[in-house]
Amino acid sequence: MRKSHITKAAAGILAASMTIGSAPAVYAADGDSAATGKIVYSFDFEDGDVSAFTNRGGDDTTELSASTDAAVSGETALLASGRSESWNGPAFRLDDKLEPYTEYYISAKIKGRYYTGAMMSFQYTVDGETKYQNLVQNLNGSDWMSVDKVKVSFTDEMEGVYVYFEGGSDDLFLDDFVVEEVPAVEIEQDIPGLAQMFGNEFKVGTALVPNNFSSRSTMDLVEKHFYQSLTAGNEMKPDSVLNKAACQEYAAETGDDTVPQISFGAAKPLLNYCKKNNVPVRIHTLVWHSQTPDWFFKENYSDDGEWVSKEKMLLRMENYIKAYFEELVKLYPTVDFYACDVVNEAWLEDGKPRQPGEQGSSGSSKSAWVQVFGDNSFIEPAFTYARKYAPEGCKLYYNDYNEYMDGKMNAIIDMAKDLKEKGVIDGIGMQSHLDARQSLDAAFPSVSMYNKALDKYSELGLDIQITELDVTTPENPTAADFKVQADYYKGIWDSIYAHKDNISAVILWGVTDDQSWRASKSPLLFDGEYKAKEAFHAIIDGYELPSEIPTNPPASSTEPKPVTTTEPKPTTTLPAPTTTVPSTVTTTAPPAAGVSLKGDANCDGRVTIADATAILQSIGNADEYSLSAQGTANADVDGKEGITAADALTIQMYDAKEIEKL
Ligand code: XIL
Repeated sequence: MRKSHITKAAAGILAASMTIGSAPAVYAADGDSAATGKIVYSFDFEDGDVSAFTNRGGDDTTELSASTDAAVSGETALLASGRSESWNGPAFRLDDKLEPYTEYYISAKIKGRYYTGAMMSFQYTVDGETKYQNLVQNLNGSDWMSVDKVKVSFTDEMEGVYVYFEGGSDDLFLDDFVVEEVPAVEIEQDIPGLAQMFGNEFKVGTALVPNNFSSRSTMDLVEKHFYQSLTAGNEMKPDSVLNKAACQEYAAETGDDTVPQISFGAAKPLLNYCKKNNVPVRIHTLVWHSQTPDWFFKENYSDDGEWVSKEKMLLRMENYIKAYFEELVKLYPTVDFYACDVVNEAWLEDGKPRQPGEQGSSGSSKSAWVQVFGDNSFIEPAFTYARKYAPEGCKLYYNDYNEYMDGKMNAIIDMAKDLKEKGVIDGIGMQSHLDARQSLDAAFPSVSMYNKALDKYSELGLDIQITELDVTTPENPTAADFKVQADYYKGIWDSIYAHKDNISAVILWGVTDDQSWRASKSPLLFDGEYKAKEAFHAIIDGYELPSEIPTNPPASSTEPKPVTTTEPKPTTTLPAPTTTVPSTVTTTAPPAAGVSLKGDANCDGRVTIADATAILQSIGNADEYSLSAQGTANADVDGKEGITAADALTIQMYDAKEIEKL
């Protein structure tokens, strides 16, 4: 249920050579599921019109024209000439032509006049700050080079969203520029949800970045498997939250440079989603050496300033942590911020603090915190301030990777005992970035080593959360590698489950392999086609769905939600909704007393696309898939009596956020 982009495109500035998408088209098929998508813009520049493109603005000297000096299709291409800097080049704006929260493929052909080293990049602005991202690098050569189906999307917080070409200072030719909708893929409904299965023991969640919210299929997986906790993959880290210009402005206006200024603009997609869908949030992270700008530790918040004193840094730290929590609670009073990684990755594998120094633009493993404090003595005040300002119910964690290696583990345990005595820590976050390698013997850590770490952290009497679980395979994994990964995941999961009394959350670091930060090593439970991998099936093997399926908010909270006591029925793919009204479904179930949750036809405590499926199935095959009495009462959402496909359609529209209320 996506809005059509046809109207927008047709009303736009684009002329004859632009194909406005109508029927699904096949373009440069590079895999079955990636093969078809509605083409929304296509330029071959044969009519000489290049007006849909601009240069980058500002001091960009690029001039755009149609040229017959080179072309892939036909005789004309767009020519970007007069470029004086490598960042100069042709740009195509997305946010005035396309829809937010929708995935598109961009394809194009690019060529230098002679030899060039070009890139395709992406730019957007949130809260006045512009960010840049290279999408395709190394378009090096003298011939035409192809960009094939590169996924882009944007959220409605972003403005000035562009795809552009840069690199070198040579003239650039652009041809056959195509924007195509990524077709939505139905996720598997006939497998149990991870949160349904394990969520009574510990929260099951994942980490998401803004792009993920544009993928309907990814979000369907989140709704099915990971609805108990979300972590921002990057957007709540210091480099996303700290606003340099505002920090400097505040310091200049007040003469006080100890009150850092912050913004949660980048995290809005996640925070708004969690607010709307009642999903608890893990805050990641306050104090970290990485993804924290060096200027935060410098006089005048200036990159080349002197390091500030420890005293000044303590003030900045306190004010930062205070502002961070206060702003979150102010903006999102109803969101459950249930956990926070107060300090991340402060200990090395040998149990020593990090080396002092800048992080720099390339991101070193040195710590500016150690630089200013001389050692790891910044940890305790960080927890003290977090305890002082964190909202009630927000548990405080120390979080680290390689947390099973002796030297680091012992340092964490000593630190945690001390902080526990002072009452400022609640738990240990075990990141759990693991590596299955080629065999169970080679996997690192071994399952028994990981199990031992769980034992040791359990003995602390603090809570444990598995905060960033992923398990890499070798690159270009074979079927055998996936089997090892599955066996290893199983071993790790069983070990986690055996410690469930001490573990309150298990968070995967992402949903599908292709979107992972370690994508080339396929570390997650779902593949790029949104299909559950062998590892997923291995994990759930031997476990049963509980009789009471956990819901959000929990059934025991003030707003009770019904729970289902039956296993969800296997479903087939969702038939396309029809607007012709079929005959009313007859159900053998007696009418329920009242509606417990409007739209919740399958009585799982939530309203999702699965409810639309349940309705359509009950219409198609009432014997096999009848709705319960409660489900029938809940399912009648269209204001007309009886359960029809129109009810399913209404729920689908609600799920696609095309209507606000049921
Ligand atoms: C990673 C993100 O997933 C990447 O997108 C980013 O480029 C680097 O950081 N430990 C952590 C996480 O605590 O914040 C890191 O996340 C992964 C390692």
